[in-house]
Amino acid sequence: MDVRLRRGREQRRKPIRDVAALYWNSSKFGHRLAQRALLDKYCLTCHNQRLRTAGLTLDTADVNNVAARPELWEKVLHKVRTGEMPPVRMPRPDQATFDAFGSWLETSLDRAAAE
Ligand code: HEC
Repeated sequence: MDVRLRRGREQRRKPIRDVAALYWNSSKFGHRLAQRALLDKYCLTCHNQRLRTAGLTLDTADVNNVAARPELWEKVLHKVRTGEMPPVRMPRPDQATFDAFGSWLETSLDRAAAE
């Protein structure tokens, strides 16, 4: 098996504490993990299969394949850009990390729309 893939799986199993560090120190491959880690850490508390807050399950949606569900990711992008999510008083990433996530998501959606 590809060593990079295997390492990715191991990393995904344990929660990633420092999302910002992962963001800024990651390879292209690590960057894909970083998107997932950000959602896992700051969004899944509410938007998971069990709670389904606002009818949104981000645990089952693949952030690295936005083309599969562009309408969902457009909503997420909107909440990220307006800063409405995570809700006030909930932990959120530092602004630079959050902005980077927003830009990345926007680019992914643009690319998906152009395909
Ligand atoms: C503490 C619980 C909580 C957390 C954490 C949270 N949300 Fe939410 N989310 C809500 C609630 C409650 C609503 C419904 C009210 C609203 O739309 O403001 C909502 C609504 C949304 C919607 C609108 C859904 C729709 O169909 O209109 C999106 C998109 C969203 N959240 C994305 C996110 C993202 C992305 C994160 C992480 C960065 C996040 N949320 C973190 C509670 C949460």
